[in-house]
Amino acid sequence: MARRAPLATASATLLSVVGAAALATLAAPAVSRAGTADQPPAADSTSSNQAAAGPATATGSPAAASPPVTPDPYADGSAQAGAAKAAVCFSCHGPNGNSQNPVWPRLAGQNAVYIAEQLHLFKAGVRQNPVMQPMAAGLTDQDIDNVAVFFAAQTPAGLEADPSYWKAGQALYLNGDAERGVPGCVACHGPLGRGNSAAGYPALEAQQSVYVVSQLQNYANGTRYSGPNATTATANSVIMFDIAKRLTPEEIRDVASYVQGLR
Ligand code: HEC
Ligand code: HEC
Repeated sequence: MARRAPLATASATLLSVVGAAALATLAAPAVSRAGTADQPPAADSTSSNQAAAGPATATGSPAAASPPVTPDPYADGSAQAGAAKAAVCFSCHGPNGNSQNPVWPRLAGQNAVYIAEQLHLFKAGVRQNPVMQPMAAGLTDQDIDNVAVFFAAQTPAGLEADPSYWKAGQALYLNGDAERGVPGCVACHGPLGRGNSAAGYPALEAQQSVYVVSQLQNYANGTRYSGPNATTATANSVIMFDIAKRLTPEEIRDVASYVQGLR
């Protein structure tokens, strides 16, 4: 099965065409009607989660395939075995991976290829985080596949989009900005933010906006991964190092709010 589809060579033009095609099927995000107009994205971090709809299925890949890099967790993992191992993760990542702390990422519904890849990167010390690295260090390769398929099978839930930011975020998400070489995020992360599990592109649906902002900043300043080949740490990572550098702080805030509301 073709699992990997690096898009580093795809042109911004192609991507915005894909983005435009996806427009027709795009749903509006969940929006907080109770929130005030100038509420920052993190302000309602204590409000209760919304029920999510739909499974975290992959959308079609817009690119050609290349060989797999890590073993396929969908083939090797057991969600049942993963459930036992994942209990310890709930303390930060929330019940069934629906994080209730805005700085800790949601894992529920994230695709297993991406989860497994990130756990290997933490374990290898390429993605550095003092809280997460010791957690990954205790997992065997089989544990990683098991927890990856467990979290991928959970239903994502999360906070709503901020009413004052999500519309600008939606425009960027769908169309990008061709003049500055920013492709629409929709091309890879999908019209509902469900990512592309065949290619290992992460889901952004219902992701904590505070976490999304921090990761876009980390890509932009080159610190998401460390080591001599930081920007090419994964088959696809160079894509985001390039894109995030071109985003303004306002765009990062807006698009993070939009994806947080996607279901
Ligand atoms: C003590 C808190 C804590 C615990 C427990 C924890 N994590 Fe994490 N995890 C984090 C933090 C914080 C991050 C974000 C790190 C960063 O910003 O780079 C993270 C990130 C991740 C990511 C990357 C998500 C993404 O979208 O890129 C994965 C995958 C992950 N954790 C899996 C797990 C698994 C599996 C377990 C249980 C074995 C676990 N975590 C336990 C705090 C924790
Ligand atoms: C050409 C495909 C592509 C496009 C277009 C794209 N992304 Fe990504 N994105 C990826 C891939 C692949 C990754 C995983 C990279 C890695 O391995 O670190 C990713 C990772 C991310 C992450 C980190 C997710 C996490 O859980 O840590 C965020 C946030 C993100 N992208 C936001 C965006 C935004 C916002 C846009 C539009 C401005 C965008 N992406 C456009 C492919 C893409």
